[in-house]
Amino acid sequence: MSEPVTVTFAKHTAAAKGVLVVLTDESLGFGPAAQKLVKGADAALTRAFDAERFKGKAWTGLDLLAPTGLEAPRLIVLSVGKAKALKSADFLKLGGLVAGKIPATAREATLVLDLPGTKVSADAAAEVALGIALRAYKFDRYKTKKKDEAEHAALAVTLLVADEPAAKRAYAAKAAVADGVILARDLVNEPPNVLDPPEFAHRAEALKQVGVAVEVFGDAELARLGMRALLGVGQGSIKESRVVVMQWHGGAKGEAPVAFIGKGVTFDTGGISIKPAAGMEDMKGDMGGAACVTGLMYALAARKAKVNAVGVIGVVENMPDGAAQRPGDIVTSLSGQTIEIINTDAEGRLVLADVLWYAKERFKPKFMIDLATLTGAILVALGQDHAGLFSNDDQLAERIAKAGQETGEKVWRLPLGPEYDKLVDSKFADMKNSGGRHAGSITAAQFLQRFVDKTPWAHLDVAGTAMGSPASDVSKGWASGWGVRLLDQLVRDHYEG
Ligand code: BES
Ligand code: MN
Ligand code: ZN
Repeated sequence: MSEPVTVTFAKHTAAAKGVLVVLTDESLGFGPAAQKLVKGADAALTRAFDAERFKGKAWTGLDLLAPTGLEAPRLIVLSVGKAKALKSADFLKLGGLVAGKIPATAREATLVLDLPGTKVSADAAAEVALGIALRAYKFDRYKTKKKDEAEHAALAVTLLVADEPAAKRAYAAKAAVADGVILARDLVNEPPNVLDPPEFAHRAEALKQVGVAVEVFGDAELARLGMRALLGVGQGSIKESRVVVMQWHGGAKGEAPVAFIGKGVTFDTGGISIKPAAGMEDMKGDMGGAACVTGLMYALAARKAKVNAVGVIGVVENMPDGAAQRPGDIVTSLSGQTIEIINTDAEGRLVLADVLWYAKERFKPKFMIDLATLTGAILVALGQDHAGLFSNDDQLAERIAKAGQETGEKVWRLPLGPEYDKLVDSKFADMKNSGGRHAGSITAAQFLQRFVDKTPWAHLDVAGTAMGSPASDVSKGWASGWGVRLLDQLVRDHYEG
């Protein structure tokens, strides 16, 4: 896994190495451990605070080069604003901000996790470390000319904490989540000539190393199973389609699993209903849902979550070709329901129709949550800060929304309802794959609902959040790894024994 940073923990009393980062708040004071380490620079700090008219406003800071009175080559002071009001997501942000402030040329840095008048818990320290790891991630595998070798040296960050063993323990689980997010980001960032359906399946197979049971089905097996809706999408591609089933058995034997389903279109040209050229390269990210499911399964297994979980992803390439499916075609899905193809660019729901049905029938899960970069319309409705949430189960929807608040991966619920059914009813088949211009994200979800029966289910439309994302406190942008932290939190909060 390509992490250019390593995070370790040491006691508050340990010596600081490299760039020194300390925290303050609106009082402009320091916690005792930080105070000890910056003591020599007290005069320089006072002058710098005055010169900058620094008031300790939340998330503002100061950066002192070669500060008089200290050995550190650089002293960074960052304010958290009100130290007592900090939540879990704030500590994640804090880690991200710190990683953003450490210059690319630094090899070593020390962050003193100490605040005036408040104790920083071990969980908070782990959240800071997670924020550092996520912000430090970069995808530069295909750059052969690095501008400055010094900028690509690995960085070692030491967090000085009150309770070192407790922080280490808390971070062991978070590091697994960090690796899961990074795996998801790598998958989304990879170019579509490299990450085609067989290669995606191959990378998912690597999860065997952490104890996940992985099965891969190719074209022949999928045809035998009857996944004609999914296969129809892939039939215009020279690449075979794949369905990957990942199982993690961390819970009680025989207990029904929780299930996560992902759309994995490794490239979406639109097919015969071809997309315009401008921005089409972004459609390499149309497997963001499947990437999240894969990253999540990695995280759950690597942290040995006490849960039975399955991940099922449908991985295809949507290409125009002499063999491609046409508007007007009618396919019979695994469920037996027939679908008239109106628009070959509404392919994600065809893939999900078969994998949702398969997961429900085979695993009888407690719930199913699917993630899909499903509609452009969700970007129109919600932009890039919330994923669209649709559900047939209020409790599940509320739990997801709460996990969203906790992790900062926010969702916004939109309606389903029988009124929308008429928009997806077809003249010639049981349904059609496009509901027209109105309520595009809702009709897509309403279509999916026809493949889940009574199973508690939620659909997350991540077209605005999983790919093409702006840079944030914890990401340099594009592939966000959205959803891994959210769903890990959901499992942690409600489904571990
Ligand atoms: N993969 C796209 C949706 C998408 C759009 C993802 C923008 C990320 C960014 C999806 O397969 C698609 O093409 N949807 C169509 C559906 C329509 C034809 C009913 C859309 O949104 O236009
Ligand atoms: Mn499409
Ligand atoms: Zn698509």
